[in-house]
Amino acid sequence: MGTNNGESLIDSISTFEEDIISGLLSTKKSLPSKYFYDERGDELFQQIMHLDEYYLTNKELEIFNRHKQGILDTISDGEPFRIIELGAGDGLKTKILLKYFMDQGAKFTYRPVDISRNVLEILEENLLEEIPELNIQSFEGDYFEALEEISESPERDIVFFLGSNIGNFSKEEAVGFLSSLQEYLKPGDLLFMGVDMKKDPAAILSAYNDSRGITKEFNLNLLDRINAELSADFKRENFMHYPYYNPQTGECRSYLISTVEQEVKVSDELIHFRAWEAIFMEISKKYDEVQLKKLAGESGFNIITSFQDEMKWFSDVVWSKE
Ligand code: AVI
Repeated sequence: MGTNNGESLIDSISTFEEDIISGLLSTKKSLPSKYFYDERGDELFQQIMHLDEYYLTNKELEIFNRHKQGILDTISDGEPFRIIELGAGDGLKTKILLKYFMDQGAKFTYRPVDISRNVLEILEENLLEEIPELNIQSFEGDYFEALEEISESPERDIVFFLGSNIGNFSKEEAVGFLSSLQEYLKPGDLLFMGVDMKKDPAAILSAYNDSRGITKEFNLNLLDRINAELSADFKRENFMHYPYYNPQTGECRSYLISTVEQEVKVSDELIHFRAWEAIFMEISKKYDEVQLKKLAGESGFNIITSFQDEMKWFSDVVWSKE
């Protein structure tokens, strides 16, 4: 997963610095989770996706394996189509569907979108090894650059946004993002989106507080990144990882909490931390049916159908433009 902000290197360095400093100078400190994904962050996220406690990957895989024919019937009308995948990552899950669609003789192009050329090259190599006849047209750029060409494409487009990536937006941000996405779609285009559902809070908490401490490391890695890129002097031993789940809103929020009073230098700023002051790091929002219906309505989508795993822990929804 790249940072996907579509800016030149120089712009993105200054934006990184501005974002980090303004987050740390706020009354309620925060750091944007989109910056988790440097090289080490990508590696750690891969490890998280392989943890049993991080059920999201396996549940979505189960959905693809259980419902591949139903998914194909829903997204294909027999004519050629394109699959535009936002934030494709290593394509591990998508591969199941792509292979099945090919075997069934579906005519489609796969267009993974990522800001990182490196991520796309690895993905192409992986996919072509297993599905040599797959037509891949990678797109290097940010989500909205990729979506812009959708409105002009003569083919029907199916936008894939998997893995509960939508959960990393607050409710308001999700409505903003999906409303703009919807505006790029043509009549007949579809959104196929993976959503993590509300469930036993204990299962959710252990997904974000795994026993091997990989998720803790994933959060602390952003402090290391800030140290390396903004000549900062965060001491990771002065911070604890604290995820918290609110079963009413469905928000799982991760914090790094300063266990001592301390000053941290970041670029030219001196940031003061009171003992037990928290930095809000990431939201991973879980939905229920009612909230999903509201989200679709508020972003201008019609609900077509959805596919679930046996325990109904995860859902892949299919929405069309209103
Ligand atoms: C990428 N995203 C959907 C993950 C999630 O579940 O919110 C990122 C993650 N953060 C901690 N573990 C995984």
